[in-house]
Amino acid sequence: MQASIEQQHAGVDGTEHPAVERTRVWDLPTRIFHWSFAATFALAWLTSESEKLADLHLMLGYTFGGLLLFRLIWGILGSRYARFSSFLFQPSALLRYLRSLLSGAPEHHLGHNPAGALAIFLMLGLALAVAISGVATSQDLGGEWLEELHEGAASAMLAVVAIHIAGVIVSSVLHRENLALAMVTGWKQGRAADGIARFHHVLGILLLLAVFGFWGLWQSGVAVDWLPAPTAAVGEHHGYAGDDDD
Ligand code: HEM
Ligand code: HEM
Repeated sequence: MQASIEQQHAGVDGTEHPAVERTRVWDLPTRIFHWSFAATFALAWLTSESEKLADLHLMLGYTFGGLLLFRLIWGILGSRYARFSSFLFQPSALLRYLRSLLSGAPEHHLGHNPAGALAIFLMLGLALAVAISGVATSQDLGGEWLEELHEGAASAMLAVVAIHIAGVIVSSVLHRENLALAMVTGWKQGRAADGIARFHHVLGILLLLAVFGFWGLWQSGVAVDWLPAPTAAVGEHHGYAGDDDD
């Protein structure tokens, strides 16, 4: 009984070779979050150095922050494998998972595995630091150190993202399952009974519409009325002031 509760908590399907059955694992809001979060991170990174693209950096940065906020709430209220409690592992579970990788018989997890989960919590923690320091920097609330913190947290996150992508590729090979594709379709190999009942399509579509809607409002200038506008000092320095016509 004890073992089955633990298995249920960890989402381990209990077999070395996952069943050929397909089951629903990632709900649509989690998938929309993932790919929008990855895209806004990449684009915010690419627009961070250029003064001309500073307004775009701010728009992408706020989108990134909004997506993060959604994920923090969905980590509590979301479906089984999206909930943080389903991938909050003890260090002993991480060690056991790493040992199973070395032994050539990797432990199968229907949700996130313990190594992936660690990278995910690191990315979410760093993303929170990036977003908070980004808003504070745009308000000129701190000095040089806040900008350094913003840039440093973004660079640290980039390093974890690289490890995350390498981990996804390695796990896909070891488990003979395309995990990136599973993050697109929501389906993974496993017992149907262990899957989630619903994909929450409506909420997923609403999340995507919220992203595009926000971009529309930003471009039309409306969003600026409810978000803190960058201070003059930051604006002048980085081209946020909006009084140049190029
Ligand atoms: C709420 C979100 C964000 C806001 C409000 C924001 C705002 C800003 C501002 C105002 C600056 C200019 C700082 C200065 O005065 O030098 C800046 C720089 C920077 N941002 Fe963001 N940002 C956000 C999100 C992000 C994200 C998601 C990334 C990561 C991809 C990122 C990466 C950077 C980097 C690397 C710089 C330094 C660029 C340089 O070399 O000057 N920011 N950000
Ligand atoms: C900037 C780039 C990226 C960021 C910030 C990022 C972030 C994340 C986060 C936060 C999660 C947790 C998902 C959740 O439960 O909400 C995750 C999971 C995942 N990501 Fe990414 N990701 C990035 C790029 C990629 C890329 C390029 C791929 C494909 C090669 C990928 C494949 C996956 C997969 C397969 C999972 C699920 C892992 C599992 O099966 O346990 N990610 N990612």
